[in-house]
Amino acid sequence: MARILLTNSEATPGVGKAAEMLAAGAGGLDAIEAGIRLVEADTSIRTVGRGGWANLLGEVELDAAMIDGNSFRSGAVGAVKGFLHPISIARAVLERLPHELLVGEGAARFATEIGAETTNNLIEDSERVWREWFEQKVPAADQEKWPDVPLAELCRQAIDPEKGMDTTVFLSLDSSEEIMAGVSTSGWAWKYPGRLGDSPIIGAGCYADSRHGAAACTGAGEMAIRAGSSRAIVLYMKMGLSLEAAMDEAIDDLRQLRGGLLQRITLHAIDRAGRHRVVALNAEKQLTYWLWREGDEAPHAEPAEIISL
Ligand code: GLY
Repeated sequence: MARILLTNSEATPGVGKAAEMLAAGAGGLDAIEAGIRLVEADTSIRTVGRGGWANLLGEVELDAAMIDGNSFRSGAVGAVKGFLHPISIARAVLERLPHELLVGEGAARFATEIGAETTNNLIEDSERVWREWFEQKVPAADQEKWPDVPLAELCRQAIDPEKGMDTTVFLSLDSSEEIMAGVSTSGWAWKYPGRLGDSPIIGAGCYADSRHGAAACTGAGEMAIRAGSSRAIVLYMKMGLSLEAAMDEAIDDLRQLRGGLLQRITLHAIDRAGRHRVVALNAEKQLTYWLWREGDEAPHAEPAEIISL
């Protein structure tokens, strides 16, 4: 069975490292964690880790998750502030706790307990862009009372597809024929504090089953949560559909959503035979992804399929 690594374009700083490790026989979780750590530390990637966009209060809250497709053990963290590598905290949840998901203060406490590296994730440019938004969009009376003001209306107005809700996603089939997934994100720019997207929700942002395949989503996490998209793709494969048909079914599920946030969402999947597919729904521009297969010297970029919902 040929090894494979599928990531989205946000993974550029880490995809090469992850592919090298898989080529050398590393396990999927190790390769994915190493790749995602490089993305989280790279401040040119504005939707993941350090350099990610702030929430409405000007704070960077990070989400990450990993799932082991053999044991179905997962580890996820949500709304974590002040740590450089949420993916490694998620991995430690998977390996050291009898839980699957920690959020907020509890996640920070656990991160401190395991010695996770701290940092200020709000880089100067993110702070500048947030402050411009604050000065232009927040009424003067609210600026004076800030942050003791209602945020709901600001949140409704602050949906900015240009900043988006991107994520980095990594799916792997390794030399032990095991299928793993990992994701990390700063979520939606100007999100309501405490908002979790799909990324830390196993089955929404990612899912893996070594018997069948793996899937992960980027874009509007609210949609992936409502349709359970990653779990749906893998479950449709389990029920006998091909990768192609399983993704068509998951796209149909997304088409049934009414109301709420309906925006761009991109679905990524691999199967046990080493096939893959990436479909961007409602994308306004061409998106690419990274693919590495056993025997390739390095990952190469390919265009995603674009479909309107
Ligand atoms: N897909 C990332 C998010 O919605 O937070």
